[in-house]
Amino acid sequence: MKVLLVCALLCVAGSLAAASGVVVCYYGTWANERTGSGRFGVSDMPTDLCTHIVYSFLLLNGTTGGIIAPEETTNDGKSNAVADLIALKEKNADLKIMVALGGWNEGSTNFTAVVNDDTLRAKLVSNLYNYIDSHGFDGLDADWEYPGQRGGADTDKEKFVAFLKELKEAFAAKSYLLTAAVAVTQSNIDLSYNVTELNEYLDHINLMCYDYHGSWDTATGVNAPLYAQLTDDDSSVLNVNHSVNVWINNGASPSKLVLGLGAYGKTFTLTNLSDTSTGAPISGVGAAGPYVAEAGVYSYYEICEDQQNNSAEWSITEVDGNYVYANKDLFWVGYDNPSTIKAKAQYAKTMGLGGIMYWAVDLDDFSGLCGKKFPLIKAGIAGYNSA
Ligand SMILES: *[C@@H]1O[C@H](CO)[C@@H](O)[C@H](O)[C@H]1NC(C)=O
Ligand SMILES: *[C@@H]1O[C@H](CO)[C@@H](O)[C@H](O)[C@H]1NC(C)=O
Ligand SMILES: *[C@@H]1O[C@H](CO)[C@@H](O)[C@H](O)[C@H]1NC(C)=O
Repeated sequence: MKVLLVCALLCVAGSLAAASGVVVCYYGTWANERTGSGRFGVSDMPTDLCTHIVYSFLLLNGTTGGIIAPEETTNDGKSNAVADLIALKEKNADLKIMVALGGWNEGSTNFTAVVNDDTLRAKLVSNLYNYIDSHGFDGLDADWEYPGQRGGADTDKEKFVAFLKELKEAFAAKSYLLTAAVAVTQSNIDLSYNVTELNEYLDHINLMCYDYHGSWDTATGVNAPLYAQLTDDDSSVLNVNHSVNVWINNGASPSKLVLGLGAYGKTFTLTNLSDTSTGAPISGVGAAGPYVAEAGVYSYYEICEDQQNNSAEWSITEVDGNYVYANKDLFWVGYDNPSTIKAKAQYAKTMGLGGIMYWAVDLDDFSGLCGKKFPLIKAGIAGYNSA
């Protein structure tokens, strides 16, 4: 058992060091329920671009340690979506297909109840193993947002490590992968993560380097600036470069870190047109887009399609491979385009990171509404490989 465990850890760490890096593509199963050009099904998956697909999300039963599978909570009109997903491996034998547990909406309550109880935690580990094994997945992505926060307990940080250790031991027999998606500020690390322990048990660590600005703000701000926005003060920690350094400085191996990229922007409604930059006064978030239909958020394809159809009305500013913002009258969006994604992926490679990750594959221009399909994923791969 011990020998197998060591081999599983070493072999995976070795493969992550490959020159091309990992390309982790999260897939929110509810993208199946969007209408028209926004509907993303399993057959839209770019099996030639992603190295890892992460089927999101499994939920958990806080009283039993049971799991609730995505196919039970979404209504995509077909019951065999998991089988179709796993069958994508026939198109690319190297493709890894993982399943994620948790997500933002799950929060902490059920995780805290289960993970702090030795019996329930063991049940959850065994339920996860069985789900992965019976469906043919390659591993689990632990997506607890976040231990010790959002309804969690002080003991979560330590018990999260116990949970990961037990998963790793259970997964060793079949070399299933174990990864996690994590928050990226020092204050989040202090509350939620023992970085050296996570670094030991996880095959890779997906840094959620986005959502730096959003509906909680009182001024415009871009989703994920690589470096500080020009309007930020010197003490700002809300940028990708700061986050990556925080994880490295806390003891993570750079090669295990995977840089998260957002295939979406954050939208706001400007107060007036006299300031359309970052840090500009707002009256609230922007109205929902036509496909994703969420106030304050525009997928990359919603942004590029509107800019293509109404090009004369848009004013677009790109700040040096760092971030992009644009406005159409009072509607404002701060986002990434292929050029800033390429710069971030080059940065990831330069910093020695194991690869790049996308939230989410279904938010890139997957159907080629604005030209070639998957411009952001392609730009990221080109950037990582060129650095
Ligand atoms: C959790 O499990 C209990 C016991 O089996 C069950 O009664 C309850 O409905 C489950 N909750 C959910 C949300 O599935
Ligand atoms: C999971 O947590 C939510 C609160 O975040 C709660 O409403 C729900 O009942 C919990 N489900 C189970 C099955 O414990
Ligand atoms: C991380 O866990 C190890 C082993 O339990 C412990 O020695 C160390 O103090 C922990 N570090 C933090 C920052 O909690």
